[in-house]
Amino acid sequence: MKLIQVADYEEMSRSAAELVYTELENIRTLGLATGGTPLGFYEALRERVRQEGRSLQHLHTVNLDEYLGLAADHPQSYHYYMNEVLFQHTDIPSPQTHLPAGDAEDPYAEAARYDELVTRLGVDLQLLGVGANGHIGFNEPGSSFHGRTDVVRLAEGTIRANARFFGEGERVPEQAVTMGIGTILESRRILLLASGARKAEAVRALLHGAMSEEMPVTALQTHPDVTVIADEAALSLSR
Ligand code: GLP
Repeated sequence: MKLIQVADYEEMSRSAAELVYTELENIRTLGLATGGTPLGFYEALRERVRQEGRSLQHLHTVNLDEYLGLAADHPQSYHYYMNEVLFQHTDIPSPQTHLPAGDAEDPYAEAARYDELVTRLGVDLQLLGVGANGHIGFNEPGSSFHGRTDVVRLAEGTIRANARFFGEGERVPEQAVTMGIGTILESRRILLLASGARKAEAVRALLHGAMSEEMPVTALQTHPDVTVIADEAALSLSR
């Protein structure tokens, strides 16, 4: 595992965008993540792409997850998020951008379809954030390290943490379709971003802890090509 230590959120975002930008010609399928962590990364990446007038027409993208019950045009859906932060600013052909359909009539069939799609495309580089409890994608503590894309239930703490993106009184979905840990581990390369003291325990477990399904992020210890970009606060328990 390669660790890149940075001072703060801004440096994490810039350094991740630089890493992905310089790798672009070697990436056909880029795995994407959502949440607060990669917002600065997407901003820096789209700015770099704009400045250089770089075409991303060759890219295929697969996102980790989507809330169950949210259609693509719902402002809190990850479809909507990705359009806002990346897709609409680039020339990636929209049929080449993929997320699980949160409003599929049969979410289990949708999960199976999505897993097959991700496997067929083959992810060259997968971007990841991490939950305070160590979740990756929406794979909460207790998830199998061999898990495939599936319908899952969110942990109470995750629902609370994600409530900040929803309006007051708006219900946060309690289920999602997420790539499984087994699916994620098939990516050729993984780039995990972590910022802030809230992530310090998960980062400590990733870098120094024992592998345990109670801390899903520790599954990455088995992967041969993981880069972690973490800031001082996220590394505060790792010294
Ligand atoms: C969310 C997402 C994850 C994300 C994590 C951390 O629930 N499903 O992909 O990495 O939680 O979120 P944040 O970056 O907002 O702290």
